[in-house]
Amino acid sequence: MSSDNEIKLGFFSQDVGHHVAAWRHPDVPADGGMSLDFHRNIARTAERGKLDMVFFGDQMAPMYPEDEQLGGTSRMLRLEPTALISALAAVTTHIGFVATVSMAYFEPFHIARKFATLDRMNGGRTGWNMVTSFESREALNFNVGVVSPPELRYRRAHEFAEVVKKLWDSWDDNALLRDKESARFFDPARLRVPEHKGEFYSSRGPLNVERSVQGQPVLVQAGSSPEGIEFAAHHAEVVFTAQSDLGDAQAFYGKVKGIAASQGRDPDHIKIMPGVMCFIGQTREQAHEKYARLQALITPQVGWMVVKQHLGVDISALPLDEPLPNFTASTGQLSRQQLLIDAARRDRLTVRQFYQRYVGSRGHHVVIGTPSDIADIFESWVDECAADGFNLMVPWSPGGLDDVVDLLVPELQRRQRFRREYTGTTLREHLGLPVPKSQYAP
Ligand SMILES: Cc1cc2nc3c(=O)[nH]c(=O)nc-3n(C[C@H](O)[C@H](O)[C@H](O)COP(=O)(O)O)c2cc1C
Repeated sequence: MSSDNEIKLGFFSQDVGHHVAAWRHPDVPADGGMSLDFHRNIARTAERGKLDMVFFGDQMAPMYPEDEQLGGTSRMLRLEPTALISALAAVTTHIGFVATVSMAYFEPFHIARKFATLDRMNGGRTGWNMVTSFESREALNFNVGVVSPPELRYRRAHEFAEVVKKLWDSWDDNALLRDKESARFFDPARLRVPEHKGEFYSSRGPLNVERSVQGQPVLVQAGSSPEGIEFAAHHAEVVFTAQSDLGDAQAFYGKVKGIAASQGRDPDHIKIMPGVMCFIGQTREQAHEKYARLQALITPQVGWMVVKQHLGVDISALPLDEPLPNFTASTGQLSRQQLLIDAARRDRLTVRQFYQRYVGSRGHHVVIGTPSDIADIFESWVDECAADGFNLMVPWSPGGLDDVVDLLVPELQRRQRFRREYTGTTLREHLGLPVPKSQYAP
């Protein structure tokens, strides 16, 4: 368990909810994902709940457009997350914002400047989710056209992250004098020019944005392969992961923190936050009704299509109510798929149950119950070293987020496991992360 007793809570925002059928829910505005008003309202609700951050994943391509079953999904549209968090920060005062931007299709200078700008503008409330982009459908939107193998992606990512951090340290904290009297705007001795020339990237620098009040944006990572864990242990301050089994989650938690410690880092300075989809009711029956209502809205066509697009396997010819046969996924995030397939075999799921479970939450942990049931699970995962907190994947919005803020948060507050008021103003303060020292600091 991390040194403070508080559970970290992020709101993982996606479209009008994480459940694949969320857009069909009667209370959901089906066009909400494309609406600034919709996102503004849910960001304000998350802030009312005193959550640490709103997290936006990203993919720079929708599903493969040639799939004829595609018409039943809302997952074809997605606003660009850095532009979106810029607008959302303007209507909030405390909550942090994390945006996913790929290291595969931009240069380190782009990312360093974009996130440093966001972090200056919103008073140190920004995080960057560093992804290496594994989807070939994204690669097809760029000149490169193909996805590199994982080992190469992560080798490049290491250098990318190093360059971004060097650029963020371009200006020492006391470099900018802005002294009208002496006519000295800055002290050239305190300006650091990275002059980076490496295996993959060159960037002379310096960056033309000053460090923010939290020093640097918070670095977030999501990737569970050995290379991904190594990368996380080295660079990440928040690790987002898909874990649905306590034992697996403990092993992952121990591994990431152990490798970080072996590299001289304080393991408490990496917060592990598995994604969790919560169905919360005043009673268990009510919570299960909420779950069943959305599951019933998944059509087999959407089930087959999502499995095919994510796992590269066509299950449309398999009898729906027979046990899931052995199969190996052939595309996508291999580490994450293995977790899903292992879990489905362990639980002896049928084909229908598999696609319903997979497609509904995309393999993330689903918890269904009263605020007290869910708080028990959260407390045990945190107390038993499986997580430092959770990235809450609300099944549908705004109703699912209202349930978090109005039912779950008060229960965690009552147990003294979650703040009643923000005690800081930066994302680092919310998460209990230190301000990183400049690498040029004495
Ligand atoms: C929980 C989770 C969330 C992820 N979210 C994103 C995302 O929003 N965008 C993206 O491009 N990749 C995302 N990824 C993919 C990872 O960044 C990584 O590329 C992928 O997992 C393959 O690496 P791995 O084999 O190390 O897991 C996510 C991965 C996980 C496990």
